[in-house]
Amino acid sequence: MRNTKQPKTYRVKSFGCQMNVYDGERMGELLTEQGITPAPEGEDADLVVLNTCHIREKAAEKVYSDIGRLTKGKTQKKAPMIAVAGCVAQAEGEEIMARSPAVSMVVGPQAYHRLPEMIDSAVTGKRVTDTDMPADAKFAALPKRRKSAPSAFLTIQEGCDKFCTYCVVPYTRGAEISRPYVALVDEAKMLVDGGAREITLLGQNVSAWSGEDDKGRAIGMAGLIRAIAAIPDVARIRYMTSHPADMDEDLISAHGEVSKLMPFLHLPVQSGNDRILKAMNRSHSAEGYLKLLERFRAARPDLALSGDFIVGFPGETDAEFEDTLKIVDAVGYAQAFSFKYSPRPGTPAATMEDQIPMEIMDERLQRLQASLRRDQQAFNDASIGKTCEVLVERKGKLDGQWLGKSPWLQSVHFTADVAVGDVVTAELIQAGQNSLGARILDSATT
Ligand code: SAH
Ligand code: SF4
Ligand code: F3S
Repeated sequence: MRNTKQPKTYRVKSFGCQMNVYDGERMGELLTEQGITPAPEGEDADLVVLNTCHIREKAAEKVYSDIGRLTKGKTQKKAPMIAVAGCVAQAEGEEIMARSPAVSMVVGPQAYHRLPEMIDSAVTGKRVTDTDMPADAKFAALPKRRKSAPSAFLTIQEGCDKFCTYCVVPYTRGAEISRPYVALVDEAKMLVDGGAREITLLGQNVSAWSGEDDKGRAIGMAGLIRAIAAIPDVARIRYMTSHPADMDEDLISAHGEVSKLMPFLHLPVQSGNDRILKAMNRSHSAEGYLKLLERFRAARPDLALSGDFIVGFPGETDAEFEDTLKIVDAVGYAQAFSFKYSPRPGTPAATMEDQIPMEIMDERLQRLQASLRRDQQAFNDASIGKTCEVLVERKGKLDGQWLGKSPWLQSVHFTADVAVGDVVTAELIQAGQNSLGARILDSATT
């Protein structure tokens, strides 16, 4: 049965990328402004927003199992009003409505500013779908931001025009749009006023951002980074995700000049083989990618690298997969994400011949991940003895323990007398696979 009671409390569950998390936070702020408050941890919520991801089959399936668990009383005692948001909502809105009668609202990633009106309809028993595009209206209609975590996300660019043949994002998020400079500088100021020290600029193709500064001059992402770095309370800037095709000289130089821009670059290559890259429509070669990284490393020698990889793209031979292992060896990533190819409805790769059997994908993923783990451990081991700044993000599990991030995006744990949001000087003294231990040298905040 569908719940049509006027909701007093909400919970947003985000399943996807950083932009999906950003959207989830914004939906929460929007609902709070309507007088609907976040449900306390462990208590039932009257309204549950499932903020879904469509990128791989497993991620997309989660929405149906979650709806089932919510309606059968497995997640909470009383069934809530359910809204399905995010990229699955965009791609399969009608199907969700048909398959799941318990769902009251389906709202796409570019339409969620209309959530309050949709709730008004839902309480009258009317089911509503809104998957309109594009995104430009959304940001202007969202409430001002008040509270932020020490590390906050700021979406500067949305959508994708690259059409990699395996990927749903151009269909679920629409065409590339850049948010205006003034709105972004304002939002960055609001974030630091609300407690943020680090701002991560987000976009599906973040370095494709372009705009005009307050004097009407055309600028790219490097110009925007410089403007945000000029805000005194911003301590750190990061950005993700970039496509190798959009990395220009100005951005490379910014890595050498802007001290607040952290020495970390997430630049997915996907495969180390040129035939596969071409079939993926990636527009870069393995060698071109390596040359680009050399230029970044020349500008910022201590740059840590991160990437995304897909194994088992249709037609990938053993030898072609070996090229991916070779590029991993050549780069030495500090961290990386790797996935088995997942055919997505409506994408060109889904109907390509020679889909790779699951056992082969499993084996390739294991080999790739062994290499990536080895390099991550090596990167962490090489950090021992370094002195760096750490942004304190939250309390750890142990008494007196705190967790934070190094400039190279490593998780760092330590015991000291600090507060959330402090930037402290630390010596890295112990390295695990996914985190480092540190000794705080100077906890005077900067
Ligand atoms: N815009 C970013 C990332 C988008 S999605 C970029 O261009 O790199 C995040 C990652 O998911 C991708 O980098 C890719 O590695 C992975 N991915 C996307 N579609 C996929 C698919 N169909 N199967 C498996 N992995 C996929
Ligand atoms: Fe997807 Fe490619 Fe666009 Fe990244 S660049 S979002 S992988 S289509
Ligand atoms: Fe997933 Fe949509 Fe992000 S498909 S990865 S939530 S853009």
